[in-house]
Amino acid sequence: MDIDTILEKQEKYMWGTWNYYQKPISIARGEGLYVWDTDGKKYLDMFGGMLTLSTGHCHPRVVEAIKEQVDKLIFAPSLYAHENAAVYAEMLAEITPPNLSKTYFALSGTEAVENTIKVAKAYTGAQEVIALRGAYHGLTALGMTLTAHPGFRWWGTNVAGVKHAVQPNCYRCAFHLTYPECDIACARDIEEIILKTTSGRIAAFIAEPIAGVSGLITPPPEYFEVAVAIARKYGGLFIADEVQTMFGRTGKYWSGSQHWGVEPDIMAVGKSTASGMPLSATITTPEIADKLSGSIVSTFQAHPVSVAAAIATLEVLKEENTPAHVAEIGAQIHEGFETLMDKYPLIGNVRGMGCMQGLEFVKDRETKEPAKEEMSALFEATRQRGLLIGSGGTGNAFRFTPPLVTQKEHVAEALVVLDHAIAEVQEMAM
Ligand SMILES: Cc1ncc(COP(=O)(O)O)c(C=O)c1O
Repeated sequence: MDIDTILEKQEKYMWGTWNYYQKPISIARGEGLYVWDTDGKKYLDMFGGMLTLSTGHCHPRVVEAIKEQVDKLIFAPSLYAHENAAVYAEMLAEITPPNLSKTYFALSGTEAVENTIKVAKAYTGAQEVIALRGAYHGLTALGMTLTAHPGFRWWGTNVAGVKHAVQPNCYRCAFHLTYPECDIACARDIEEIILKTTSGRIAAFIAEPIAGVSGLITPPPEYFEVAVAIARKYGGLFIADEVQTMFGRTGKYWSGSQHWGVEPDIMAVGKSTASGMPLSATITTPEIADKLSGSIVSTFQAHPVSVAAAIATLEVLKEENTPAHVAEIGAQIHEGFETLMDKYPLIGNVRGMGCMQGLEFVKDRETKEPAKEEMSALFEATRQRGLLIGSGGTGNAFRFTPPLVTQKEHVAEALVVLDHAIAEVQEMAM
């Protein structure tokens, strides 16, 4: 079917669709780091299916595991114990911080986050939760309430008891302070919020180790130690939303929070888990987990086919020594981005870690006025040149979040395309 017919049907029969480009791309096939659209145009996928295709598109080991499972058993409800789920939960416990050993499976990151809050409330007996401005945590009523990002709160639904502290964003500090003289005022703000706007006892503090949807906002090194200590002082558990940052995405470690020297009490993971098959997990300590045991049931929980894909995915990621590999690829990306920043005044900020880095466009480096039209132009320019990237922040940043198996030659190829595309946009902006 040609793209115009697909778009016509989409427009007529679907709602809630979205897209970055003047005319949407329709992807028909994927292999490794590349995808092809319905017209046969090839793209290098440096958005990695929104950070989901950890092993790339249609990795042969993942495809084989899915086929094998489909031939044997497509589905059995979690009412019945299933080998895949038990085996994979053990595999997860081997790569999460040592205290986190018990998993509850679901399908989406949103559900995984919802379950972190449920279990935190059950364990602490408290109801209030501190989240961060700029965070993205999902699309249900609670997910949207925890989220504090323009464009994702339009529904107006609010679950009681959620308060938002300022985001640790040194490039655009909410307090107009400069690191390190600021003394991490953003983290200390949490105490003020707890004391002045809650009952004084909280269930949890939830945060992303690197805030993905907000454009890869990376906190200063001490932020989490200070923030988590304050949350714990008032009875709160620390929930790391690792939906984007798990599985070595940030390099060096399997989970993003390990960079910040804090051990979460509960973690939500999703996206990269099963190379594109739907699967997410809420992982916590046995003590916390046992507070909710048996009281949450979901039909497709621990779906045997998704879990088969997840096992194959993690086997591949372990064999590839992913945390170390991503650290290496991340250094190459960072260096490439710094070189682009030296060349193009449009680039105001380079940030992120590992296979999770991005750039922010500004009209002027002094005023930091967001360059949104220029960023839209970059999406067209990269699309034309066969490169997929992701949007981030409030329209003037992009996310470069390739599959975790990306090789140096892919990054080099992408950097050349970005160089040409940014040169075109910079020229336009002059
Ligand atoms: C940090 C974070 N948490 C939760 C979610 C929600 O995950 P899902 O879209 O799978 O429901 C996302 C999705 O982008 C996310 O980035």
